[in-house]
Amino acid sequence: MNKRIIAANWKMNKDLNDSKNFFKKFFSLKTDFSDDIIVCPPFIDLGYLCENFKNSGVKFGAQNCYYEDSGAFTGEVSASMIKKIGADYVIIGHSERRTYFGEDDHIINKKVSAALKNGLKVILCVGEDLSQREQKKEFEVVLSQIKQDLDGLKQEDVKNIIIAYEPIWAIGTGKTIFPQQADLMCKSIKEFVKETYKTSSQIKVLYGGSLKISNASDFFKMQNVDGGLIGGASLDPEEFIKIIIESEKTSKGDFNE
Ligand code: PGA
Repeated sequence: MNKRIIAANWKMNKDLNDSKNFFKKFFSLKTDFSDDIIVCPPFIDLGYLCENFKNSGVKFGAQNCYYEDSGAFTGEVSASMIKKIGADYVIIGHSERRTYFGEDDHIINKKVSAALKNGLKVILCVGEDLSQREQKKEFEVVLSQIKQDLDGLKQEDVKNIIIAYEPIWAIGTGKTIFPQQADLMCKSIKEFVKETYKTSSQIKVLYGGSLKISNASDFFKMQNVDGGLIGGASLDPEEFIKIIIESEKTSKGDFNE
């Protein structure tokens, strides 16, 4: 059976106390998961959560990393540090990092390499902005981002990459793309990666951007959408659990084969 990936991107929300309260509630509601559940909290909560919820069925990830392993890079956190603290994943290339912190595809590519070298799985975020979509350039933009961000990747690395397709105009805005449009993009991404890296293993592609309980099943039903990267709706344990349950309900074991 092909598992879905349900990933939470908490962004700069929740201090350690909030995180503890979240998981108290979360695990009081559900403790067994048939999908891969990943939570990406702020760095400051990551060590505690990895340590205390090691065998809980939830995996943890960082929201960013730096590409050097150590040294005079004030304020940065390396992929090797993230790995050593017990996290398994790192989000790279989120549109907020691209927009507010000036990360371009060259920097993102270096971060992807560093993460893989240190044994982390990468959730690579890509997506077009509204004007690019209006100009019907979304496929060109997204595939070009992937080409540059994954440049130099070896065939065997593909299994450690998850791509999150997040149209920028849908992030945190309440606007969503039609599930069929997301499906089409996810399909193109899969074909592109398969062709570029000559790999038979299928890359997992998530949808992200205002995913919530009211629309989750519409996206999960799509053949090429392997799960979601969820911001706002992952902050509330009850809503996040409902989305996880919705995914389990729509798991037929026959999608994306
Ligand atoms: P959103 O964020 O669900 O709040 O739109 C998604 C993301 O930015 O990863």
